[in-house]
Amino acid sequence: MIYISNLSEHVDQEVALKGWVYNYRSSGSLVFIEMRDGSGLTQCVVAKDDVKEDAWEAATSLRQESSLEITGTVKKDDRSVGGYEIHVSDVRVHQVAEDYPITPKEHGVEFLMNNRHLWLRSQKQWAAMRIRNEIIFAIHTFFQKRGFVQMDSPIFTGNAAEGSTTLFETDYFEDKAYLAQTGQLYGEAMAMAHGLIYTFGPTFRAEKSKTRRHLTEFWMIEPEMAYYDLDMNMDLAEDMIKAIISTVLEKRGKELEILERDTTSLEKTASEPFKRMTYDEAVKQLKSDETARMLDDMAEARRQEEIDLEKEEKEIKKERGSAKKWRKAQIDQRVKEISARIAQIKEDLRNIPSWKESARNFEWGNDLGGSDETVLMMQYDVPLIVTHWPAEIKAFYMKRDETNKLALGMDVLAPEGYGEIIGGSQREDDLEVMKERIEEEELDQDVFEWYLDLRRFGSVPHSGYGLGLERTVAWLCGLSHVRETIPFPRMMGRLTP
Ligand code: 4AD
Ligand code: MG
Repeated sequence: MIYISNLSEHVDQEVALKGWVYNYRSSGSLVFIEMRDGSGLTQCVVAKDDVKEDAWEAATSLRQESSLEITGTVKKDDRSVGGYEIHVSDVRVHQVAEDYPITPKEHGVEFLMNNRHLWLRSQKQWAAMRIRNEIIFAIHTFFQKRGFVQMDSPIFTGNAAEGSTTLFETDYFEDKAYLAQTGQLYGEAMAMAHGLIYTFGPTFRAEKSKTRRHLTEFWMIEPEMAYYDLDMNMDLAEDMIKAIISTVLEKRGKELEILERDTTSLEKTASEPFKRMTYDEAVKQLKSDETARMLDDMAEARRQEEIDLEKEEKEIKKERGSAKKWRKAQIDQRVKEISARIAQIKEDLRNIPSWKESARNFEWGNDLGGSDETVLMMQYDVPLIVTHWPAEIKAFYMKRDETNKLALGMDVLAPEGYGEIIGGSQREDDLEVMKERIEEEELDQDVFEWYLDLRRFGSVPHSGYGLGLERTVAWLCGLSHVRETIPFPRMMGRLTP
């Protein structure tokens, strides 16, 4: 079979392509079919005079998303989508599609989510899934090259590891089981057998809030390393993110373009060192005059931008009346861009005062909220790793520093408002301390006996972290919501399709 992605190898040859109608247009004795075959898009031109009557009939019977087979000659054409055009000699229809619900006009996101099984065929969704695939492959490549062993942790578990409020409970014969919130505890056991391991699997959290960063079912990559301390853990996370981004920039340029992704910050992330600071320093920065001033300056800049955009809009709308057809289309496109940007500015201007207040009044000991992360990250265009967190707000398994007040945890925050993409830590490796933690947290020691064994039989310093796949995909693709980063998202209020 020949696929659209390989047309460059078949220039001036006759090929047969099997796929679907992405877009359809006819004018007199010509039919233009934008065809997709899963691997890409290409324009096919059918001229009435060049094909037999049944092929012409087939071509004129087509509708959006009809399935078809096309034979034709590949011609190089830089103006055409994908850079090639097919001069068609034959058309065979498999099925003429019914009225396709997703038309080129704009649709609301609820409607698109209800039609997710079809929406996956649209260009931007297609591009995002290709990038997700590249990220997955890059992660495996990164770890495999470094001698990590991929091991699977169970999905049914008997114990909570990341707090009891987000557990999904199920019946397990006569017993209770939970869907895994993390594979980490099992990862620790596997690291004591293999040294360097990573898990790559689905995890579940009963998140009862609807945010753009939370799913109830998401995929997590969790490396766990024997004899690694917090610094080595941070270095590994940084290297991994750089490797993922370099691969995507190198191999998925076309998809990033479809998504209209500005890659400036990604390029910096791939090449420049990440910022690192302690929680204490992060809090000081959040509360600083400098941050307040930065937010004021930002508000001022946004207001000015809004004025400029409104002026531009007025001028081009005036011009539109007497403009040529191509210029009208250009103006309409720009007007759309302007109103999207103005909506964003208005939202920022609504948010800035509360961001400013929440940053200024942040209390040491609290967890960083979404808006605090956003404010903190406004000053950086590479990721920031925040370490040494107040122990009370971090998980029981984290090792503490000499003061016993701070947990040796690390959160990696992505720039451009994407927030926390990694959570990790050095693990507590002392049996007695771990027993105390379990007691303090009022966890059932019985179900953790096996985990305590890891501290009884050859305990060593060790560390690990979890990378959220969907948040990573959202960040790299520049998508504002994680619902578009996984084929069939599961969120509160969404179980179908
Ligand atoms: O910070 P978290 O809760 O860390 C852990 O689960 C550790 N056991 C990982 C480890 O040390 N092995 O989650 C890790 C990452 C977050 O940084 C975030 O990217 C993602 O998982 N994540 C979610 N992604 C989508 N929807 C949710 N509800 C998520 N909860 C966490
Ligand atoms: Mg976390």
